[in-house]
Parts: sequence; structure tokens; C-alpha cells
Amino acid sequence: MIVLGIESSCDETACAVVRDGREVLSNVVYTQIPLHQPYGGVVPEVASRAHIEKVHGVVSEALARFRANCPGASLDAVAVTYGPGLSSSLLVGLNAAKGLAMGLGVPLIGVNHIEAHLHTPFLYDLGADAPGPGPESALPALGLAVSGGHTTWVDMPAYGEYRIIGQTLDDAAGEAFDKAAKLLGLGYPGGPVIDRWAKGHWNGATDFSDAAALKALAYPPGIKVRDPMPRFPKGHPRAGTAALAGLDADLCVSFSGLKTALLYYVKRNPPKDDAGKAALVAAYQEAIVGTLADRTRLALRRRSYGALIVGGGVSLNGRLRAKLAEVAADARVPLLLAQPKYCGDNAAMIAGLAFHRRNLVGEAALAVDVNPTLQAGD
Ligand code: KG4
Ligand code: ZN
Repeated sequence: MIVLGIESSCDETACAVVRDGREVLSNVVYTQIPLHQPYGGVVPEVASRAHIEKVHGVVSEALARFRANCPGASLDAVAVTYGPGLSSSLLVGLNAAKGLAMGLGVPLIGVNHIEAHLHTPFLYDLGADAPGPGPESALPALGLAVSGGHTTWVDMPAYGEYRIIGQTLDDAAGEAFDKAAKLLGLGYPGGPVIDRWAKGHWNGATDFSDAAALKALAYPPGIKVRDPMPRFPKGHPRAGTAALAGLDADLCVSFSGLKTALLYYVKRNPPKDDAGKAALVAAYQEAIVGTLADRTRLALRRRSYGALIVGGGVSLNGRLRAKLAEVAADARVPLLLAQPKYCGDNAAMIAGLAFHRRNLVGEAALAVDVNPTLQAGD
């Protein structure tokens, strides 16, 4: 089954074609990051306008590459993200997908963006070897989706079934990175820049302006947070808080206090130079990564899992990858991470997960609506 997927939930306009849920036949991502950079965050109005301008070109390019890579092959369905995300952005992709499905006379498949992030470790490129066995071999799996909009732990008893067991009660991990970078004037998006500066800190770098050199560094093993670095809160919500909505406080996080702690710390101790800023963001990153790792470790102790699946933009973080590898090894569970190009928002994950989702035709396809607050498992 060959599916064309469209993604437009936030600040990437993307289209991809995937065979049988895993083999990526073409993949095009247009990122709006430069458009939002002056504002230090995504501006919904700017995002939806840019999706409108770009969606046609991105879909045409993905189709052209698919036709060049697979002469004579045809599409069996069109898939699209219908939530969660910015409603005005989601609508652009949804309407493009409806038009395309109708024009081609193929079914439409609505896909949940968070669930799709958890499909990314199973994707591989046309002509490459599959990275290990398929999703079924990982079951039951523990999934962790960490992105700019989400921080969610889910139980996956069967492939395509998701039950939330933990989540953030306020800011997502990516948001915590982005807000800190904005506060310190490090640019947008904050995750990649904090990741680079933290690497520089641990390696004793002196030049923080050379992004490529910082990116090429590796985290030294066995990092220990040293004094006088600030200790940021570990974001443990109080048991009984209404926002938990029945979830176990031990598997949930709250990142909003972290950002406030940074604000107050910086007011009292403004960093003197780039090295001071790097030390600060390294400590801040340790708090986020440590929090995510602790909750994951506990979730892996609670049940027996076949794999730990991690997806989303924050899963690009070098320190998080290393820490989760330790956690998974201790629990004797394989850690499944996506290739870097499939960690951030893309449409290959949408076309891939669609293979496990319901086809909609006729009136049912036309009736699909966006759901900006969709949760995993809805
Ligand atoms: O998955 P994604 O592209 O979009 C959403 O669905 O939100 O994730 C974007 C988020 C941003 O907050 C960005 O700062 C974060 O992923 N991110 C990172 C890294 N690369 C991207 N966070 C930490 N370390 C990174 N290397
Ligand atoms: Zn995403």
C-alpha cells in the first residue's frame, strides 16, 4: 500500500510518500523556522499563511520525486494530520489532502500527530535496509513523544493503540528549551542551540559562535553537575493536583517552574560571558533531561515492555539520547529512536502510521475535521 502524507500542524509544511508503513519513497519538508525567528516563537497567523503559500509546491515536489523514484507506481491513499496543532495551520493541510484524495479517487486517512511521532523509528529510506524488525516486535511498548508541543508517555499494548500514562501538566520539554533560549537571547528554536552550547560547556569550549564546531562535539560520558551550577527543580507535580486528571503524579512532569527558576536565577546572577551562559544552559538541560529520564525509568519498572520508542523534535537532543540509552540498558529494553531527519515534524511519519489506520471514503472523508487538542489514543 502506497500512501501520500501531508503534515501542516505547526511550522513545517511537509509531504511524503511511504510504502507499507515504513519505506520512504519521497520526503519533502519546508520549514518556516526563519519566518518565526524574529518573534522567538511560532506565530499562528504567519504559519497558516506560509502553509497556504507552500503546500502546493511541497506536494508537487514530493509527487515528482516519488514518480522519479518509482516509475509506474500509483498512490493508494492520502493521509493527513488532523490534530493536535494550530487549527489554522491544520486546516491548510487537511483541505489540500481532501482535494488530492478526491481528485485521485483514493481514500483519505486522518492521522494523530503525536502517535505519528512514535512511528518514526520504524521508517527507512528507499534502497536502505530496514532498521530492525517492524513495530509488532516491539510490543507491548513504552512510547515517549517529546516535542515543542508535547511531552507524553504512552502504553502501546498493540500497534496503533495508545494509552496515556504520563504527561506534562503545562509546558512541553521543547517549549522549556525554547523559552530558556529566548530569555538568554540565544535564538529560536532553543533546543538545538542549547544542545550545542551545553556540549561546548562540557568540552571546555571557548568559542560559542562556531555552531558547526559545537555541533560536531560529543557529550563526554559520565557527566556530573558540578557546583556552583544552579540546581533547577525536577518538575515533580504534587499528588492530588487536579491537572493530573487521574494520572500518576510520579509519571507526570511540570516544566513551567523550571523556566521561572531560570528567570529568577538570571536576575540574581546574570551570566558574565558566553562561558557563563553555556554553564547555565548545561545545568538547565540536565534538569529537563534528568526529569524525562527519571519518569521513563520509573515507567519501565512498572511494567514489562518489549521496547522503549522515542520520537519528536526533542529526541534529537544528544544528552537525552545518551541518558535514555542508559535507562533502556538498565531495564534491558531496546531503545528505538528515529533517524535525525524523522525526529522533527515531517510527513513520512504521517504516511507511515496511516498504514495502521482506517481508510475513509466519500462523505466520511469529506467530514474529517481538524482537532487542535487531540491527545494520543483519542
Ligand atoms: O517535533 P517538532 O519538530 O515539532 C513539534 O511537534 O513540536 O519539535 C520541535 C521542538 C522545538 O521545541 C525544538 O526546540 C526542539 O524540538 N528541539 C530540540 C532539539 N532539536 C529540536 N530540543 C532539544 N535538543 C535538540 N537538539
Ligand atoms: Zn511534532
